[in-house]
Amino acid sequence: MSEPNEVLVHRDWQRRYPRVVRAEGIYIYDEDGRRYIDGSGGSSVVVTIGHGVRAVWDAVAAQAERFWFYPAHLFTNEAALELGDRIASLAPGAMKNACKVWLTCTGTDAVDDAVRLARQYFVERGEPSRYLVISRWQAFHGNNIAVAGFSGHTFRRRAFMPMYVNMPHIPPAYCYRCPFEKALPECRLLCARALEREIRQQGPENVAAFIAEPVVGAALGAVPAPPGYFQVIREICDRYGVLFIADEVMTGWGRTGAMWGVEHWGVTPDIIATAKGISSGYAPIAAVLARNEIWEPLEKKGSAFRAGHTLNANPISCAASNAVLRYLVENDLVAHCRQVGAYFLERLRELLQYDIVGDVRGLGLMLGLELVRDKGTKEPFPPEMRVSRRLEEAAFARGLVIYSCTGSVDGVAGDMILMAPPLIITESQVDEFMSILHASIAAVQQEVQAVEKAG
Ligand SMILES: Cc1ncc(COP(=O)(O)O)c(C=O)c1O
Repeated sequence: MSEPNEVLVHRDWQRRYPRVVRAEGIYIYDEDGRRYIDGSGGSSVVVTIGHGVRAVWDAVAAQAERFWFYPAHLFTNEAALELGDRIASLAPGAMKNACKVWLTCTGTDAVDDAVRLARQYFVERGEPSRYLVISRWQAFHGNNIAVAGFSGHTFRRRAFMPMYVNMPHIPPAYCYRCPFEKALPECRLLCARALEREIRQQGPENVAAFIAEPVVGAALGAVPAPPGYFQVIREICDRYGVLFIADEVMTGWGRTGAMWGVEHWGVTPDIIATAKGISSGYAPIAAVLARNEIWEPLEKKGSAFRAGHTLNANPISCAASNAVLRYLVENDLVAHCRQVGAYFLERLRELLQYDIVGDVRGLGLMLGLELVRDKGTKEPFPPEMRVSRRLEEAAFARGLVIYSCTGSVDGVAGDMILMAPPLIITESQVDEFMSILHASIAAVQQEVQAVEKAG
């Protein structure tokens, strides 16, 4: 393994980062010849079509032969136009071929621009008092100051708190640790109905949008909202004229066994922010899709959309994304994901045999587990024991990349693991994944139980 580099800053000072030299299918190879299963689709739910697909290389090379960059304030490019049409044709429900698409660089940019669009929509319509964005606790929407401000990811927010505009949060839809201490169906979806109370409390005339992930990723470790949740959200948003923004940065492009996460609830949002799977990690690109009616006030008034970055709609990224989405559709990877995802979730249930595994969950190939100190009471481990991080490290040492998360209980305590292999994974590769996971959990369980006994 390489010595740490003294100049380039990596996120974590404690970690040694092996250099990747090659990646193919579901595997990543490092400079020492070690092979890892990419069990989280990149570091965080990115890779859909697998690594090293030749068709993407060819598409990017063909674009590179023509041009790499262009002055976007005066020109457009063919790859971007093709991508816009392709995205609109794959959009969910009433958005299908009835939306407009804005291209940007990262998931954070897409969420930021989705919120900008919501705000500008109301300003152009003559409702300038609407500016609040309601989100949920235990939600992650991105990592710039504005987006982290309305995100509900405590670990990533706390250091920057004084810099945020104060935005309201409602409790998450999280049945394993129901914030209302109820269970379905008696709860009558209090978690969804909390939105109505919050809108009324803030004054509907001040609320622009509600934003949510259909399946919560980094902040909850693959928790899908319960059945009926987004239908109630849709009704409430409609009742108060609030826009519903679906953050499909992780859940878009087949990850949950449907092209879009919201399709599991049969609702159409007003705006979608998406990234990650849109290019399967081959190039930085992200998109905002919004119903035609949302763009209309801007279009009618000839008001420019007040967003944008220099590298938006970059032709190389667009070429990569076109090739990725073509591959995804031609190989019907969404159906494959649904099928293998069901098998994988079934196998994950085996893990409930361990004392420290309290819950397994997920949808399609966005899967997670929660680690607890006491299964009966769901008591979490003390955060300083870093139990999910220990499991991530144990798996990594055995050749499996998984994603550790914390904060399910109160933003700080609560250990989870997020798993999201490329959608091409086969059942026998799931078996390979599972044997490493079993060995890693058994080792960590022994380790933490020894620590607890000694302490
Ligand atoms: C749901 C969700 N939204 C937004 C983002 C931000 O995306 P990016 O890291 O590309 O900026 C992420 C990243 O993990 C995410 O999971």
